Amino acid sequence: MITQEGDIYILGIESSCDDTSAAVLKDGVLLSNVTASQAVHEAYGGVVPELASRAHQQNVVPVVDQAIKKAGIRKEQLSAVAFTRGPGLMGSLLVGVSFAKGFARSLGIPLIDVNHLQGHVMAHFIREPEGDRGGSDHPALTGTPPTQEGNKIPPLPFLCLLVSGGNSQIVKVNAYNDMEVLGQTIDDAAGEAIDKCSKVMGLGYPGGPIIDKLARQGNPHAFHFAEPSIPGLNYSFSGLKTSFLYNLRDWEKEDPDFVEHHKEDLAASLEWTIVDVLMKKLRLAVKQTGIKHVAVAGGVSANNGLRNAFKDHARRYGWTIYIPKFSYTTDNAAMIGIVGHFKYKDKVFCPIDAPAFSKVTFK
Ligand code: KG4
Repeated sequence: MITQEGDIYILGIESSCDDTSAAVLKDGVLLSNVTASQAVHEAYGGVVPELASRAHQQNVVPVVDQAIKKAGIRKEQLSAVAFTRGPGLMGSLLVGVSFAKGFARSLGIPLIDVNHLQGHVMAHFIREPEGDRGGSDHPALTGTPPTQEGNKIPPLPFLCLLVSGGNSQIVKVNAYNDMEVLGQTIDDAAGEAIDKCSKVMGLGYPGGPIIDKLARQGNPHAFHFAEPSIPGLNYSFSGLKTSFLYNLRDWEKEDPDFVEHHKEDLAASLEWTIVDVLMKKLRLAVKQTGIKHVAVAGGVSANNGLRNAFKDHARRYGWTIYIPKFSYTTDNAAMIGIVGHFKYKDKVFCPIDAPAFSKVTFK
């Protein structure tokens, strides 16, 4: 493929937790998105940081290689390398950050640092090629937005419920580089609570997809779990998790196989409660800001109960909703690449000595 003058090719690299992912975008249109997930953590019921970094080390070179091949380009055509700088697990981040620095330096192209959380929000701006994708022979692309709700890209400003394994936030998005956190969890994230409850039930890791599947067959009102009463737009999920644990302990005294006998109802009731808590604060945020364009992002946005709640709110309250395609809900490099694309256009590059950061921040 011959690079036309003006084409922007961004390589995105994501390695903040337990997925090693690389993507190539041309002018903001996704050419490839390759992810190696790490099954090694399943046996431990959660991500083991040391094992995650080791697996990233093994995966990063082949994943990047595949992403470039699938995109049908040569590495010399890349305009810049965008990488997740944080937040995340430090050991995991360091693999992607170091690789990105070395790769960009060897090609003599700019480096672009991306905040993982901004990446999740910006997943709504990824465009896919019209027609076939992932092959080596892409036509010149105009691209379509991949959101499932009518193929829309949200207009600015919009609200985004960002729900992942480590974060639960309501974000007001003014621009790709201007996001205000209106509210966030003061303890556990929604995904973390789901994962921990799944672990307590002995259902496996990650709990989200398992709970989601079981919940489809259960009664959401079979059990009642305490909902938090936190003022304003902040969330709290640790009380709910504890309430779930204590209730389960009591029920298991009566019936040692309680989980086996009630796992569908337990999953449905847990999911219902978490979705109810998330949506109540989101309704308040809509009321306070007057913004009715509402998106959802992050791993928990794959949840069917949450997706249905969004559709229900669109009908009942006249919201225009934006729900990402499943492949852009969990960690992926396409979302890092799209932020890289916007930053490249604004010539916002990052120095070679920029360190990774593990803590939550929007800077
Ligand atoms: O965004 P993500 O992939 O990683 C972080 O950046 O944290 O989110 C992972 C979280 C996990 O807690 C996982 O259990 C949850 O997303 N998750 C789900 C579903 N799929 C993944 N939670 C509920 N329902 C799902 N279908």
